[in-house]
Amino acid sequence: MIILHSKEAFKSFRQNLAKDQITVGFVPTMGALHNGHLELVKKAKDSTRVVIVSIFVNPTQFNNPSDFSNYPKTLEKDLELLRAMAVDCVFVPDNQEIYTHQPKLKMDFGDLERVLEGSFRPGHFNGVGIVVSKLLNIVKPHKAFFGQKDLQQVAVIKRLVEDLSFDVEIEVVPTVREEDGLALSSRNLRLGKEDRIKSLILYKALTFSKTELLAGRDWLEVRNVVEKMFAAQQGVELEYYELVHTSEMKILDCLVPGVPVSICTAAYVGEVRLIDNISVLD
Ligand code: PAJ
Repeated sequence: MIILHSKEAFKSFRQNLAKDQITVGFVPTMGALHNGHLELVKKAKDSTRVVIVSIFVNPTQFNNPSDFSNYPKTLEKDLELLRAMAVDCVFVPDNQEIYTHQPKLKMDFGDLERVLEGSFRPGHFNGVGIVVSKLLNIVKPHKAFFGQKDLQQVAVIKRLVEDLSFDVEIEVVPTVREEDGLALSSRNLRLGKEDRIKSLILYKALTFSKTELLAGRDWLEVRNVVEKMFAAQQGVELEYYELVHTSEMKILDCLVPGVPVSICTAAYVGEVRLIDNISVLD
């Protein structure tokens, strides 16, 4: 497994692959890798000859400085996991390598980011859009892999690729969960024992809501019940709980026949902000 830190070194590695017309799969990450990330790697390995993973904790997508400074960093373990999966190359740039100049460009994804993560984390998708654009331009993959866990990020990236004509196919990988339902996340490492138990409320609420909706119960009623569930749980603070159009991210107030919908949520469990979503109708 080749580990590269500079764009220059990466460029010559990439040029050699191009000479042999090798298909390249790319999994961008911020490290602190878990089985969710590794599932993306697996999917990449299934469909492309060479798999490249990037590890870069992108400062411009953190609206909260303490979230950035507390973001877990486990580089040695990450590299071990990737080596065990026979990843071909890991790109680990430092901040200067990616942000040689502070970008003046601002990305605004319009309606796609006026809700959910975009409205609670101002500037977040500008940072994601810029770093993913930079990484796609450096790595030049044929396919890039993203998790459904970050549903709004998927919508934003698909739009980015379309609007800027990036020559890459985006593949979306279903959310990987712990046995008890908690969606894997690098931030789970920061949950204490008690908070880890409390964190189950997100998945419980989502599965409960899906069952109720599919049984014909009114969304606003369901949400009301869920809000009460959250209010009753000490140390957990619900940020949003919304029914949305799965790709357009429009907030809905009922199921619409033929429209793919998901429920998206974010909540603080203690100090740790968790997000999750579930597809109700495909
Ligand atoms: P990060 O949070 O490290 O996630 C990297 C990729 O792993 C994302 O596509 C994310 O959706 C996916 N992922 C995370 N948890 C998952 C789970 N439980 N199941 C399936 N996939 C999961 O997302 C980012 O980094 C950054 O925003 C990035 C795209 C790298 C840009 O900085």
